[in-house]
Amino acid sequence: MKVLVIGSGGREHAIVDALLKSPKIDKLYCAPGNGGISAQAECVPVSATDIPALVNLAKEKEIDLTVVGMDDPLVMGIVDAFEAEGLRVFGPRKNAAIIEGSKAFSKELMKKYNIPTAGYETFTDINSALAYVKTLNPPIVLKADGLALGKGVLICQSIEEAEEGLKEMMVNQKFGKSGTTVVIEEFLTGPEVSVLSFCDGKTVVPMVSAQDHKRAYDNDEGLNTGGMGTFSPSRVYTEDVAEVAMETIFKPTVAALNSENRTFKGIIYFGLMLTKDGPKVIEYNCRFGDPETQVILPRLKTDLLEIFEACVDGTLDKLSIKWDDGAACCVVMASGGYPVSYKKGYEITGMEEAEKDPAVKVYHAGTALKDGKYYTNGGRVIGVTAKGENLDEAIKTAYAAVDKIDFTDKHFRHDIGIKKYD
Ligand code: AMP
Ligand code: GLY
Repeated sequence: MKVLVIGSGGREHAIVDALLKSPKIDKLYCAPGNGGISAQAECVPVSATDIPALVNLAKEKEIDLTVVGMDDPLVMGIVDAFEAEGLRVFGPRKNAAIIEGSKAFSKELMKKYNIPTAGYETFTDINSALAYVKTLNPPIVLKADGLALGKGVLICQSIEEAEEGLKEMMVNQKFGKSGTTVVIEEFLTGPEVSVLSFCDGKTVVPMVSAQDHKRAYDNDEGLNTGGMGTFSPSRVYTEDVAEVAMETIFKPTVAALNSENRTFKGIIYFGLMLTKDGPKVIEYNCRFGDPETQVILPRLKTDLLEIFEACVDGTLDKLSIKWDDGAACCVVMASGGYPVSYKKGYEITGMEEAEKDPAVKVYHAGTALKDGKYYTNGGRVIGVTAKGENLDEAIKTAYAAVDKIDFTDKHFRHDIGIKKYD
């Protein structure tokens, strides 16, 4: 089969790497891909959001299945555009991808179907929003309705801060149009766990759990980032919690989407908070997480292509998906200054040496390949994943690999896999 993966991050590198294990793949393309992906698949320089050009590419290369990694094209309706042309594609249609595209929509859905989540109100009028926050006890959580590159959430420690935040979002449009509708939410506490799941419209199959470290610096200090590292499994997501989440969140979400005629095929990413009242949904995403994918897919023992096909065909209940019993840890190596401002173009050394350990895989995110050498080309540069029999071993092996890799201004966290509440 000829398969096309859409996206350019570490997540897509992990998807490409897992797909290549399938004996059914004859040729793998990635658009646009990155330096590291180009060593494993043919990268085509078409933007992940240029839907007409991607449709043409799939036709021209006679692609049998397209896999969409990124949120933007899904929320824009890439799956509908492919299906309209008779092209086979893995991912949710626009009317289901809205669970990530609109926080106001997903909160309404959860309220209507009694799916546990933080209490909230939605506002489109700044004066009503300002009046509402005056009645709340901080911390106050403000969320821009639409996609904002993971930056559309403000946790405000005072009413004044919340008022300022609302003005920034709704009047100054700090997050563009995505902030003209704002969800104001109750502040929840507890460990956060990412549970990604395969879904074929009827059946939902959770993957192994993972935890992300979103802040830039050790001890969860500094700004929020796209994710500085992950590990799998979570130590706090026990089988009992998983069972509760399945019955109160995963199955009800799929059923709710069906009841609304928004059948979901693809990946539902459940961002959960394990509160003292049980697991609650912090966010839904309509795609694989980054860098969660870099610790989840290396643990998958079943053919990923077969799973994608079962999701498209609605036959997921016939598959038995297997995972290895061990653990994985991914340490992101970023450009110093990320997520604010940083320089690019520095040579990266030591990756080959690090990958000599068969437990290690370096997933590229922001790299460029020039004359056989890799250079930094983004904020998050690479994700260094190691597998191990248990978390301690995976963490140790990942950091030993990180120590072998060098580039100017490299920045990484030293505490990936270690969480305060453990
Ligand atoms: P999101 O973009 O929805 O994942 O939110 C980003 C981060 O904000 C989450 O990972 C949480 O750490 C935090 N957060 C979001 N909503 C809440 C909430 N209701 N209570 C506490 N923290 C939250
Ligand atoms: N790592 C968080 C996300 O992919 O949304």
